[in-house]
Amino acid sequence: MEFVFIYSKQIKKLNFFNMKSNTEDKKDFFPYGKHSIDEEDLKAVRDVLLSDWLTTGPKVEEFEQKVAKTAGVKFGSAVNSGTAALHAAMYAIDIKPGDEVIVPPITFAATANAVVYQGGVPVFADVDPDKLLIDPEKVEEKISSKTRAVVAVDYAGQMCDYDALKEITKKYGIYLIADACHSIGGEYKGFSSGSCADLSVFSFHPVKHITTGEGGMVVTNQKELIHRVKLFRNHGISTDLHQRQKKASWYYEIKELGFNYRLTDFQCALGITQLKKLKSRIHQRNYLAKEYDQFFKDVDGVSPLKKEEYISHAYHIYVVKLDLGSLAKSRQEVFSFLRNEGIGVNVHYIPVHYHPFYKKTFNTFKGLCPIAEDAYERILTIPLFPAMTEEDVKAICSKIKNAVQF
Ligand SMILES: Cc1ncc(COP(=O)(O)O)c(C=O)c1O
Repeated sequence: MEFVFIYSKQIKKLNFFNMKSNTEDKKDFFPYGKHSIDEEDLKAVRDVLLSDWLTTGPKVEEFEQKVAKTAGVKFGSAVNSGTAALHAAMYAIDIKPGDEVIVPPITFAATANAVVYQGGVPVFADVDPDKLLIDPEKVEEKISSKTRAVVAVDYAGQMCDYDALKEITKKYGIYLIADACHSIGGEYKGFSSGSCADLSVFSFHPVKHITTGEGGMVVTNQKELIHRVKLFRNHGISTDLHQRQKKASWYYEIKELGFNYRLTDFQCALGITQLKKLKSRIHQRNYLAKEYDQFFKDVDGVSPLKKEEYISHAYHIYVVKLDLGSLAKSRQEVFSFLRNEGIGVNVHYIPVHYHPFYKKTFNTFKGLCPIAEDAYERILTIPLFPAMTEEDVKAICSKIKNAVQF
């Protein structure tokens, strides 16, 4: 509690009423999410910039070990985005042209794009209406002889029903992949995010819980799979420059076709100092989310997503659903009102199967996932990030009240 208090004070010093966002040049604009960087982070990056290794070196390994430990698994492989991590995961499990991978429609498109990069076919299974997480029953309905994997997306920071998903993937002998880009630091029935699937994927984009600027990681307990991820992120070469330097060797072989998905040492140095603050940030996010929950109890026509009791929520984003019938105004009207008031509301996400690329490539259509589609019309993401204070939540809530009542 004391930590949160101190943390909030530091935050006040940041004074985000004077902060400028990339998208809005208003003095008092609250983005929906924002990174926090402190002196410790700056020093860690500076130290590496002044050292001999800028790219894959000791900080990469240290960051991998620390993230794997946080996730409660043995191995991690750092890459330069969450998208690269998803791609590497699809490669690691050997997704080939024509293979089907089941994904939810309510996610950032990278979840499905990664399947397509490997020539696979994303098959959309609808979400449940209350949490917007992939529905295990819908997953089972979509399984065919071509299905090779299921990707669970821990939307908004709430982990999926991994017991049910594991039962299904085990029954059909297919892989379970966790797109845990929203849930690092969260738990499902006491199991850490990153430990509930064959491979789990994190993102360190600035709006996420911890950042490396851009960055991502694949974590797992399976040695062979992490070996394949490490091969893939480095052109398919089994050794990196640092390892060859240590052995005084120049020789390398391209074992498989890979990419340059490497993350730099200075980014990993930042990741290491950011990771130290993960727990306190999750705590602060939960604290602010509770304040929002309390407020929405008294607001007709707006309700937060349901949170399961057995979940320790990571609250990457805070999402509400508008009851458009009772509000008698459109989501766009509420959205525009709030944006005009300096509240950086957003919509997460446009269902992936709505995107023109998916329509023309995979013949997806409106009606494919009705629950996700209905939710999409009504969801709104409101600001939540650790640098916010209770007063900030109150200020935002009062504007939301005006927005739904005007
Ligand atoms: C659910 C989900 N998956 C994948 C990604 C891709 O991560 P990155 O932006 O680091 O490539 C994101 C990032 O926004 C995400 O939210």
